[in-house]
Amino acid sequence: MKSTEISPSIISSNLLELGNQVKECQRAGAGSFHLDVMDGHFVNNITIGPDVVSAVRRATNLRLDCHLMIERPDRYYKSFIDAGCDVLLIHYETPIEVGNFLKKLEDENIRHGIVINPDTDIKKIYKFVPTSEIVLIMSVYPGFSGQKFIEKSLDKVRELRKFIDENNYSAKIEIDGGINAETGKLAREAGAEILVSASYIFHNNIEDSIKKLKSL
Ligand code: DX5
Ligand code: ZN
Repeated sequence: MKSTEISPSIISSNLLELGNQVKECQRAGAGSFHLDVMDGHFVNNITIGPDVVSAVRRATNLRLDCHLMIERPDRYYKSFIDAGCDVLLIHYETPIEVGNFLKKLEDENIRHGIVINPDTDIKKIYKFVPTSEIVLIMSVYPGFSGQKFIEKSLDKVRELRKFIDENNYSAKIEIDGGINAETGKLAREAGAEILVSASYIFHNNIEDSIKKLKSL
């Protein structure tokens, strides 16, 4: 099995220390960064916009993934790309014609992945897997960090792992929500390659927690 990629979600970082904490994550072996964008409509929380993305961009050369938990990614995606985002993560549950929007991203050569909520059937997104760089399986209901890992999301990871392997697709499986050393191990065993983590990393010693997750 390939090595584990850790994608710290800066939602739980100390924003006054954002640049230093991003650099600390990179030194500890993070492989990318995860930026949770919430608009107060698609989820019941409001977080960051493009300005914070460009601040993180100035602190690291690692891949930046923007997890767009917003109702209208079609209206705002360009400002995230302009701010330095590398990969847009788009929810299947977004209330726009997701298929058309993903096709538009493809036509514009914008790197992207698809995200699926805990209650959505994994088969619903199969048609988007061949053209996705990442498939992100939510293991909590989106909106907040610090929630408990939903175990049944592991079944989805297993099913998707099989689907990707059987068809030789290049999409990477990422998991997001409630990831710590125990749940991260279960997710890895189920076939996830990228672990997103916010509170476990930033509410503990950053270096230690990233190293622990990376060793899984
Ligand atoms: C939830 C976000 C997650 C969250 C993870 O809506 O998408 O990325 O920040 O936080 P932890 O790792 O604390 O569950
Ligand atoms: Zn996220």
